[in-house]
Amino acid sequence: MPLVSMRQLLDEAAKGGYGVGAFNVNDMEQIQAIMAAAKETNSPVVIQASRGARAFAQDRFLFHLILAASELYPEIPIAMHQDHGNSFETCKSAIELGYTSVMMDGSLKEDGKTPSSFEENVAVTKRVVDFAHDRGVTVEGEIGVLGGVEDGHGAGGSGLEHVTDPDQAVEFAERTGVDALAIAIGTSHGAYKFTKKPDGSVLKMDVLIAIHKRLPNTHLVMHGSSSVPKDLQDVINQYGGKLKETWGVPVEEIQLGIRNGVRKINVDTDNRLAMTGAIRKVLWTQPEKFDPRDYMKPAREAMQKVVALRMTQFGQAGHAGDYAPIPIEEIAKGYADGTLATQPLVAAK
Ligand code: G3H
Ligand code: 13P
Ligand code: ZN
Repeated sequence: MPLVSMRQLLDEAAKGGYGVGAFNVNDMEQIQAIMAAAKETNSPVVIQASRGARAFAQDRFLFHLILAASELYPEIPIAMHQDHGNSFETCKSAIELGYTSVMMDGSLKEDGKTPSSFEENVAVTKRVVDFAHDRGVTVEGEIGVLGGVEDGHGAGGSGLEHVTDPDQAVEFAERTGVDALAIAIGTSHGAYKFTKKPDGSVLKMDVLIAIHKRLPNTHLVMHGSSSVPKDLQDVINQYGGKLKETWGVPVEEIQLGIRNGVRKINVDTDNRLAMTGAIRKVLWTQPEKFDPRDYMKPAREAMQKVVALRMTQFGQAGHAGDYAPIPIEEIAKGYADGTLATQPLVAAK
């Protein structure tokens, strides 16, 4: 199957009332793990690459590896997505490579650290939307700022410093025409999200629900959505790791989000933990091993297990065969002739 527009994938998820996991990749084994999980659970999927991933793997290696996934698994709809684009140029380069979706994270300035102004965010996001939609490519924007720092990207802090204001979310969606909207509700990137199990109030699910009420048809995106399971932490620490006690986003809260408009759920850290634990276990228990296959195979299997579980929990499992991909050129026409709406439905307060 050719790569699919993320807009189509999320529109279908909205029709079916489920969420779609968007999993970060940096190398072949992670892509293989996601595809094995997608096949196992019959799931459509978003495969996403950060700027750091594109630099680490080199653009063309990563692009062709994801393309290989779409050739080897023709029954699985895959959207190839740029995660946290920091500028128009980053998004343009992903689109020119062949990504079917980009995130313009204008919540931060181009340095990927400093929160930007609302007007700056609107301007750069709108510029990306105009360029992307002309080419049939989907755009995710972000309003509000996440906490934490990954690979030098992120504002830092707890995640509760810049929670999304629902009125701004409405204005942002109207002025930019984004296809999907990432909101800040207290999550942060990385393993250290919370020092105790968060309840609904810590996570500001009320804000998410308020935004969904105002923008009932807008696809919401939850970043920083790893659950950081204790069993994955324990494997790492059992075999020489030194993770401090920590909590992630409970799956029940994500499921509550999915019932309230969340269609894309970003997960990276859980997969990092699963792979690292599996590798540590081999190297710790069998120190004589030196063939990378001896630890990369269990690492890939450990990631497949996590991804398959999330696909089932998010509800995308079983939906891979629900629809045929619409060619990107048709999607571009849809944006141009208005068949694909770019103006959100806004409900009164
Ligand atoms: O944005 C967060 C993702 O986990 C990607 O992280 O920038 O370290 O590749 P990264
Ligand atoms: P986690 O660090 O919680 O996996 O979040 C990943 C993410 O939001 C990628 O954009
Ligand atoms: Zn993110």
